[in-house]
Amino acid sequence: MVDEPKARRLFFAIWPDESARSAFAHATRKAVRASGGRPIPVSNLHSTLAFLGQVSTERVPHVTAAAEALDCLSFELIFDRLEHWPKPAILCAVCSRPPPAAGELAAALWKLLAKQGFTPDPKPYWPHVTLARKVEKPHAVGALHPVAWPVDGIALVDSVTASEGSQYTVIERWPLRA
Ligand code: 2AM
Repeated sequence: MVDEPKARRLFFAIWPDESARSAFAHATRKAVRASGGRPIPVSNLHSTLAFLGQVSTERVPHVTAAAEALDCLSFELIFDRLEHWPKPAILCAVCSRPPPAAGELAAALWKLLAKQGFTPDPKPYWPHVTLARKVEKPHAVGALHPVAWPVDGIALVDSVTASEGSQYTVIERWPLRA
């Protein structure tokens, strides 16, 4: 018999639909290649909303309860810049003007998670999509052909770190209000 895991590595994400995913791949391909870093597979592209880390299996219902209580509006993110963040050594796509609704969503989710006993991330939320890791010297940062990403829901994602890279599985999704 295979033992059930006692904990899962979880995070909430804005998970793109196929059209946003392929628009990202198309708009960023050259910059990713020029960055010299390790590209994130296109099927793994996402924007983390709240990173929980290891969560014991019995606490997972508390995570889903927080998401169920969420009552936030849909919005659109326009990713229009490429940046190199030296500390995590990533190349990422960012929004030069994220709508207030994005910050409100992250804040509302953390508030509900805190009620369930999770400790909010002290770092301010800034929507980004990691495109490549281990980027020491990026060659192409600056303007990005804008990629519009309609955000009409959030996803709870399970992450398994393997030698060949991270494997993400969307466990559940919750819609945002139209
Ligand atoms: P990143 O894209 O900025 O690296 C799964 O690992 C996702 O969770 C990644 O998208 C990663 O964000 C984010 N993540 C991993 N570790 C984290 C941490 N300690 N704090 C915040 N986000 C983290």
